Amino acid sequence: MSDRKATILIDGEHPIELPIHKGTLGQDVIDVGTLGNHGYFTYDPSFTATASCRSEITYIDGNKGVLLHRGYPIEELAEKSDYIELCYLLLEGSLPTADQKSSFEHDIKYHTMVNRSLEQFISGFRWDAHPMSMVCGVVGAMSSIYHDSLDITNQEHRKISAHRLIAKMPTIAAMCYKHFIGQPYIYPDNKLGYSENFLHMMFGTPCEKYECHPALAQAMDKIFLLHADHEQNASTSTVRLAGSSGANPFACIAAGVAALWGPAHGGANEAVLSMLDEIGSEENINEYIKKAKDKNDPFRLMGFGHRVYKNYDPRATVMKLTCDEVLEVLELENDPLFKLAKKLEKIALEDDYFVEKKLYPNVDFYSGIILKALGIPTEMFTVIFATGRTVGWISHWNEMITNPYRIGRPRQLYTGADVRAFVPLNER
Ligand code: CMC
Repeated sequence: MSDRKATILIDGEHPIELPIHKGTLGQDVIDVGTLGNHGYFTYDPSFTATASCRSEITYIDGNKGVLLHRGYPIEELAEKSDYIELCYLLLEGSLPTADQKSSFEHDIKYHTMVNRSLEQFISGFRWDAHPMSMVCGVVGAMSSIYHDSLDITNQEHRKISAHRLIAKMPTIAAMCYKHFIGQPYIYPDNKLGYSENFLHMMFGTPCEKYECHPALAQAMDKIFLLHADHEQNASTSTVRLAGSSGANPFACIAAGVAALWGPAHGGANEAVLSMLDEIGSEENINEYIKKAKDKNDPFRLMGFGHRVYKNYDPRATVMKLTCDEVLEVLELENDPLFKLAKKLEKIALEDDYFVEKKLYPNVDFYSGIILKALGIPTEMFTVIFATGRTVGWISHWNEMITNPYRIGRPRQLYTGADVRAFVPLNER
């Protein structure tokens, strides 16, 4: 809060005073909430200058390449922490003690198995359904199964639902994958850590256990960790908007999954691999760079650019190191696809157009390459993003529900027809 005020003049007169609020960090915001009383709305399509809520969870400074979760820099969390600890931090607001961490880990493990009817639900999808289409549906359907914890005013219910979502998302993601490739489902193994367990459910079969190289389990954990939250992006805002109507958390997270699916958001990691496939070989890179720069060509370099980060994406810096490590462990440095990706990265980083427009590789450029190297099919990439992001969505939903809120209801600038008389069918 501050005593500062902004004054808006309408046509040079009729001053309207608006309060200015100060956050802990970042831009001050002009509170336009009372403008409607004066007969005006603000107009900000795509929300490029609009803060939709107060939040204590995540802070981003796009110009400086800063990302903080509950005040901790992402680079430090990636180096010193792990995904499960970050889940606790995002949900609870502070780092856990050793006891709190092991109790939280136990709670999550205890919820990894899914109800049999969910298994049957997944089996009902067409065999070749895109895994994101299944996850969208299955997460929403969780509210039909876990309806013993849907009272959003009950703190214990909210906690159980949050734990169920975090615990069951990897199981559901892996089951959707198994259905997609026609293999039997592999149940969670609670002896394993969160990310190793996910790889076990993805790659194990009833005939053969999946032996996981520790560096690969760690890379998976980093992918979950780096995707865990990103303040009020399209999918998180969707979760909040859906939640503002009082909808249950499973329905809200399903809405978030749907919003994440698009190629401008979570679908970008899948789009990176499709683009690399399309480019085909190193000789074609220049032609595609030219296409990306051509205003009349809809082609964009997928995995480059970001709405908020205009210098570099701090998640990409961490992901790049993990990417190099994974390629080395799997001895894939000379694989033509990964060589092509590295060459593209180098050329784009040096190209004037990309440098001037501050279009740097984003987290999805590198996560797409890592997931491909791990042997995960591209159709699963956005599902993995959704799995990691679930904790962010549920933390924001929880923050909204536990603070005063009203249903979200944006207004519009109407540009349609003025009132006109209805013309009967036989006179048209
Ligand atoms: N390739 C070529 N040109 C680009 C690209 C790109 N990837 N991204 C932006 N531009 C150009 C764009 O044409 C525009 O040029 P001009 O000023 O001449 O009109 C300028 O850069 C600004 O672009 P914008 O579309 O206004 O920027 P935005 O903030 O609306 O969009 C973005 C951000 C991420 C949607 C966009 O950069 C993009 O489409 N990137 C590729 C998709 C991608 O990798 N998305 C993942 C984002 S990270 C994961 C997540 O957080 O969801």
